[in-house]
Amino acid sequence: MSLSDKDRIFTNVYGYQSWRLDAARVRGDWDNTKALLDLGQDKIIDVIKASGLRGRGGAGFPTGMKWSFMPKAPSPERPSFLVINADESEPGSCKDREIIRHDPHKLIEGALVAGFAMRARAAYIYIRGEYIREAETLFAAVAEAYEAGLVGKNACGSGYDFDVFVHRGAGAYICGEETAMLESLEGKKGQPRLKPPFPAGAGLYGCPTTVNNVESIAVAPTILRRGAEWFSSFGAENNRGTKLFQISGHVNKPCVVEEAMSIPFRELIEKHCGGIRGGWDNLLAVIPGGSSVPLVPASQIIDAPMDFDGLKAVGSGLGTAAVIVMDKSTDVVRAISRLSYFYKHESCGQCTPCREGTGWMWRVMERLRTGDAEIGEIDMLQQVTKQVEGHSICALGDAAAWPIQGLIRHFRPELERRIRERGGDLAPMQEAAE
Ligand code: NAI
Ligand code: SF4
Repeated sequence: MSLSDKDRIFTNVYGYQSWRLDAARVRGDWDNTKALLDLGQDKIIDVIKASGLRGRGGAGFPTGMKWSFMPKAPSPERPSFLVINADESEPGSCKDREIIRHDPHKLIEGALVAGFAMRARAAYIYIRGEYIREAETLFAAVAEAYEAGLVGKNACGSGYDFDVFVHRGAGAYICGEETAMLESLEGKKGQPRLKPPFPAGAGLYGCPTTVNNVESIAVAPTILRRGAEWFSSFGAENNRGTKLFQISGHVNKPCVVEEAMSIPFRELIEKHCGGIRGGWDNLLAVIPGGSSVPLVPASQIIDAPMDFDGLKAVGSGLGTAAVIVMDKSTDVVRAISRLSYFYKHESCGQCTPCREGTGWMWRVMERLRTGDAEIGEIDMLQQVTKQVEGHSICALGDAAAWPIQGLIRHFRPELERRIRERGGDLAPMQEAAE
């Protein structure tokens, strides 16, 4: 089932109306929030569990279950915290930006409801440094919420004290990894911690912490108001709800749109993007979930359901639902090489397979791009990706390996052709020349 306007949670995602509190209230935000809190912590978590909501930051961990890991009786010496990940940096992802720009009160109300359910003392919203205007909007919206008594002491007249802090990042992709984010919030260099312990056991300042994506938090009040059954009526089993898709690349009308999970790829593109540039025969491949997931060739993606399981079945993933569409004009080897450079650049350097492997993979990718390689290097590169995958502290190592594995799996003949012909685009990329 695809979505109609009345089912959309983010009714102001295009900013046709004001983001300010008065306008947000007209859209239904902050409507008797106290009644939601009166449901009680356990009931709120039960509803979120029953809704089937899975984390919208990319990994898809069940949100209600994550909330249930938090202690039921935090001590004053070791308070609980909610950290909201607004460090949206995945190439292709731009949905959290739209929420913060145009619907910040959904996020702030969600922070209160989620924080209350987890018995958290405060929420920290960590927003990526490059989101300058969005941070200004968020600071102003938080100030409005304090002014109106919606957060802070006796939030919404509930008797519950809850603070919301906005913290700006400084431009490092790795600070979006949840434990690197905690380090950064503590004023340290943003480098991932070993897990376990997971943040619910030892998070911010060693206290119980839940880290959730902006979208996961912003949908919570609507789920509580409309009910778990309503939310779970969209999408396939295990892939429930509505979802913001961010479609970029070679479609006629790139956009961010809220749709039902599991919508088939073709329907998503036809309904919202005016089709593929040059028609469906011109589609080459798609990266369906942001740069950290493997690309999928046209023939396999067209009928795939856009959800966690449907995209896993074609060897990829939903990730953040950042759908990057490539038509036949794309130099797919160059595109993946550019992503390799990104991961090399963003590796924090803490563990050897990632620090050395990302640079190694990028250098081989560049040789493959120009054709200046040996055929045997394709298998060697595949081996290197296997040595990096699963052997690093955080998911950045995997994210660097997977796009290359996808390229070799689906475009080996193209890699071989370049080597045989030693031709193509031989000009060094700008970064390669650095
Ligand atoms: P993960 O699967 O390790 O963890 C997901 C969440 O579940 C975390 O909050 C983790 O603490 C929790 N969790 C997992 N197992 C748990 C357990 N046994 N007990 C308690 N909590 C548990 O994935 P990770 O590394 O957090 O995220 C990777 C994903 O992030 C990638 O799939 C990628 O799509 C996405 N990503 C998103 C970006 C963005 O801009 N939104 C940027 C880069 C990556
Ligand atoms: Fe840092 Fe890479 Fe290791 Fe992650 S995998 S901790 S980014 S070196």
